[in-house]
Amino acid sequence: MKFFVDTADLTEIKELAATGLLDGVTTNPSLVAKSGAANFVELIKDICKTVEGPVSAEVAATDYETMLEEGLYLAKLAKNVAVKVPLTPAGLKVCKHLSGQGTMVNVTLCFSPAQAILAAKAGATFVSPFVGRLDDIGENGMQLIADICQIYAQYPEFKTEVLTASVRHPQHVVQAALMGSHVATIPPSIIKQLFAHPLTDKGLAAFVADWQKCGQKILPSKAA
Ligand code: E4P
Repeated sequence: MKFFVDTADLTEIKELAATGLLDGVTTNPSLVAKSGAANFVELIKDICKTVEGPVSAEVAATDYETMLEEGLYLAKLAKNVAVKVPLTPAGLKVCKHLSGQGTMVNVTLCFSPAQAILAAKAGATFVSPFVGRLDDIGENGMQLIADICQIYAQYPEFKTEVLTASVRHPQHVVQAALMGSHVATIPPSIIKQLFAHPLTDKGLAAFVADWQKCGQKILPSKAA
């Protein structure tokens, strides 16, 4: 399973990239606004230099012509840009065009299995179902992931990867992995939560204390 980080904060991206566990990045207009970055294009170039994997950069327009122009421009910024388009008729038309010329496309704002089928037919590299936002309105976000994974598995010609998005807690990630979601895009705070378990902390404290009682060292003393 691939882990993308869901942020436009370059400092956080650099910190997580250093762990070696990061496979890509997703941004969106809200995350860019939150980051305070003054120049979106320069930000995407910097993120693409920091992380080797796909970096989702979202178009801002909603009409086909402008969206396509923006998508073509964003695709030229770096080899690892995945142009992000909304799941609308115009967005899928742009997806079809860009994927046809070999550009990675992430179709975002997917809220139903029917929409995910359309994204696959449009040649999307990734489809992003937003599980947290469905949970927020009393629906079952993870059921959507299960449904899409089941549908895609029946059609080998669908090459689209299921990118679980709008992740709110570690259990979303675990459930997505159990269901066979190819990717999860995760906010930095939740990636940090994935490491945590109280028994790990307790066990480590005991090992450190017992090792000190031994009075031994693993590394030889360095010559002065
Ligand atoms: C995905 O690409 C989106 O950026 C993101 O996961 C949306 O999450 P939110 O619902 O927490 O805004």
